[in-house]
Amino acid sequence: MAAGMGRSTTRIRSNGFIRERAGVNDWDPKLYLRFGDERTRAAIDLLARIPEDAPARVVDLGCGPANSTALLAARWPVATLDGVDSSAAMIEQARAALPSARFEQADIANWTASTPYDVVYSNATLQWLPDHATLIPRLFEAVAPGGWFAVQIPNNKASPSQSVFRALAQTSRWRDKLKNAAISPPIGTVGLYDDVLRPAARKVDIWETEYQHRMKDAAAIVEFVRATAIKPYLDCLVADEQRAFLDEGTRLMADQFERRSDGSLLFAFRRLFFVAQRA
Ligand SMILES: C[S@@+](CC[C@H](N)C(=O)[O-])C[C@H]1O[C@@H](n2cnc3c(N)ncnc32)[C@H](O)[C@@H]1O
Repeated sequence: MAAGMGRSTTRIRSNGFIRERAGVNDWDPKLYLRFGDERTRAAIDLLARIPEDAPARVVDLGCGPANSTALLAARWPVATLDGVDSSAAMIEQARAALPSARFEQADIANWTASTPYDVVYSNATLQWLPDHATLIPRLFEAVAPGGWFAVQIPNNKASPSQSVFRALAQTSRWRDKLKNAAISPPIGTVGLYDDVLRPAARKVDIWETEYQHRMKDAAAIVEFVRATAIKPYLDCLVADEQRAFLDEGTRLMADQFERRSDGSLLFAFRRLFFVAQRA
């Protein structure tokens, strides 16, 4: 099963803490959308680079709560729009947020298109799936000739917001409990995406952007990442342990981000993008 998938329907407390240990817990749409502006900004930037006026069929892979799907609906209101996500909670939220689209709960690892799409779009999701050298060309096959494959993948593993928790998970206090945490696999290099896309592409545009999100303090940065990158650690812990793990990480992280004159921190967040047109 792919990392980040929701296997259980474990109830999540209103503060985003998970009630009980349950292997892989479902995603929390409310917690995810707490930083909706920051998260959706990359989705907007990706969409802006797709030069397609009137696609008939569009799919959003890893649609989450439909924040990205809503952008696609606004840009192409007459297109048939599908959303795919493995999380039951995300799909439920997406259906409520955007009734005009069709949402399917499925694992992208096994997903195939019955009919090709004019746009296959995926924002902030494919980092949860392994082996991009195989996955990316396979998903590109779901694009119709002349259509577009547009992807954004967070490339932020070097950030203290992740490296601090990786190191903490190796310490004697946490190692045993966290040894099976399904953290996301390494993503590919820019060169890998170029190599695997070009054989079937008319053109390939690849770029990286490092956003500088202004955050109140280290605790706010931890709030940001606990819905996503460090969620697999929290999935292995009960609520009290989650709080202790996050508190320890927050303390260790506090000195790793430069404080600005107004007391805020700039949270650098690197993301890799590509837009490829199928030949
Ligand atoms: C960070 S959210 C991205 C949501 C939205 N696309 C956005 O732009 O903000 C990642 C989503 O990927 C989904 N996901 C993770 N692994 C998946 C998989 N193997 N198959 C389908 N969805 C997956 C999660 O359930 C989650 O909703």
